[in-house]
Amino acid sequence: MCGIVAYIGPKDATPFLLEGLARLEYRGYDSAGVAVAGRTGGIKVRKVKGRVADLAAAVPARFKGSTGIGHTRWATHGVPSDANAHPHLDNAERIAVVHNGIIENADELRAKLAADGAVFRSETDTEVLGHLIAAHAAEGVELEEAVRAALGKVVGTYGIAVLDAEQPDRIVVARNGSPIVLGIGEKEMFVASDVSALVRYTRQVVHLEDGELATVRADGFRTFTEDARTTHRQPSTVDWEIDSYDTGGYEHFLLKEIHEQPGSVERTLGGRLDERFATPPRRGRNQDAPPLREIRRVKILGCGSAYYAGEMGAQLIEELARIPAHSEPASEFRYRNPVIEADTLYIAVSQSGETYDTLAAVQEVKRKGGRVLGVVNTVGSAIARECDGGIYLHAGPEISVASTKAFTSTVVAFALIALHFGRIHDLSPADGRRIVSALKALPDQIREVLAQSDAIAGLAAEYAGSEGMMFIGRVRGYPVAREGAQKLKEISYVHAEAYPASELKHGPLALISPELPTVALVPDDELLDKNLTTLGEIKARSGRVLAVAHRRPEAKLADHCILVPKSEPELDPLLLNIPLQLLAYHAAVALGRDVDKPRNLAKSVTVE
Ligand code: F6R
Repeated sequence: MCGIVAYIGPKDATPFLLEGLARLEYRGYDSAGVAVAGRTGGIKVRKVKGRVADLAAAVPARFKGSTGIGHTRWATHGVPSDANAHPHLDNAERIAVVHNGIIENADELRAKLAADGAVFRSETDTEVLGHLIAAHAAEGVELEEAVRAALGKVVGTYGIAVLDAEQPDRIVVARNGSPIVLGIGEKEMFVASDVSALVRYTRQVVHLEDGELATVRADGFRTFTEDARTTHRQPSTVDWEIDSYDTGGYEHFLLKEIHEQPGSVERTLGGRLDERFATPPRRGRNQDAPPLREIRRVKILGCGSAYYAGEMGAQLIEELARIPAHSEPASEFRYRNPVIEADTLYIAVSQSGETYDTLAAVQEVKRKGGRVLGVVNTVGSAIARECDGGIYLHAGPEISVASTKAFTSTVVAFALIALHFGRIHDLSPADGRRIVSALKALPDQIREVLAQSDAIAGLAAEYAGSEGMMFIGRVRGYPVAREGAQKLKEISYVHAEAYPASELKHGPLALISPELPTVALVPDDELLDKNLTTLGEIKARSGRVLAVAHRRPEAKLADHCILVPKSEPELDPLLLNIPLQLLAYHAAVALGRDVDKPRNLAKSVTVE
């Protein structure tokens, strides 16, 4: 959830560290700090509670060094404060450490280190790492040996970067559950917890594996395992556009990413439709027809919006392929000793590819002999590497904390999977063609919805002051309602509850009042009449209704309506969701929220 950067090379490290931290600020943003091995010896540290801009203001012009590490924090152990900000030093101020993750046995280690004389200056779990590494370094070993020995005593998750005042020709980094990426430059090396901090400097990267460490020097790197075996890692090339990391004239990343959806959907579909057979072309690992024909069930695993996208995916697979499919929060699945079946296909969904709960769920399935496909946005991420094969979304980097374009691309990817399964089972060529042409029409239809942004802003301003909002949908509409409620609450902090429209009369109807408006998904499908009846029930109880529909309901049934272009029924949810993204965005803006960095949340939850 926090961000790490590091630099070693002929230049001054500080400008890269500060710029890199600003790019990672969306991952954690309650405090920030940098440390450099100074040209005159020793380590200089500046760290502050607040934003990276506050840190930049606190860093003096003479703060220079050609080896440095930096961190932007999202507090887990100890309140946001100058003292708790990283980097953390040992008492001799020889070792500086930045850390993402959680050290589970920190209390125990802290007690032992304190008994040996270490004086702790923060409440963080990270500080134990500094003291522990320093204790081993004091034995006269190389920094990598000291780090390896220290990590051998640690239980927990970490991505770390370590600086040693006495060995400033190197930085040692390690990964266990929290990402670390090496960026390879011309006689200089970069490190970050996310490629977004690196792409301005290099496209050649190496993603460390869990349990792997690296010694990074200006002229290269060496990777090795926790038991000191050398590993051989080939760099990969990042193909995301640099522009993706700027707001590009939009007020917020979130609005930009919502508006990028026609293009991101085109990229998800790119080269993946074989019109002749009305199916995706046969390619990709573990996607050949014979083993897929054996599959009797599909279980989809993801967290938050990825889980809701999985719910839409499960419906697509059931409808198009007639294979029972179910989505479950990976964060629950991993803790409940799940039954893993040989004829079930497990599909892990993740934008970042680093969500710890989803990664742990994948590992649990694989440990028990199951097969997992990944539907992942970030190429080379931990979940992508852990899966047996899968689909990359190619949605481009998603910077805003709230997921929008990756959500939409995930549902499109599921439509492709469902079509593929359907066409190797009993989905007719005619039905296949129906879905193929509907998929191709999506980018233009999304543009039609986005053109209503101003009108939706007006509605958002009207509804944003409500004490809460109810989101309802039936069957295909229910995951849309869940995702719509999630988006509204996470960025506007307006309480929102999603219910199946059919369940309203079994309890929540009691909540309906003018103060609790309802957003109702009303697609023009076989359940239209049922949905209209529900609207009547809400209006009869003085509820206000904002319908998202293909046809405007009668005025007595809805106070307002957002019209959405019609797709094929199976794909309608995808388009019905887009106005809800805009509604949440504009409500958050109307309420003056920090849209790209909602409170208490961070992009990519790499802790348990
Ligand atoms: C919601 C949101 C989160 C993520 C969830 C999973 O807008 O962003 O609910 O969807 O934390 O993240 P990934 O997809 O990176 O695994």
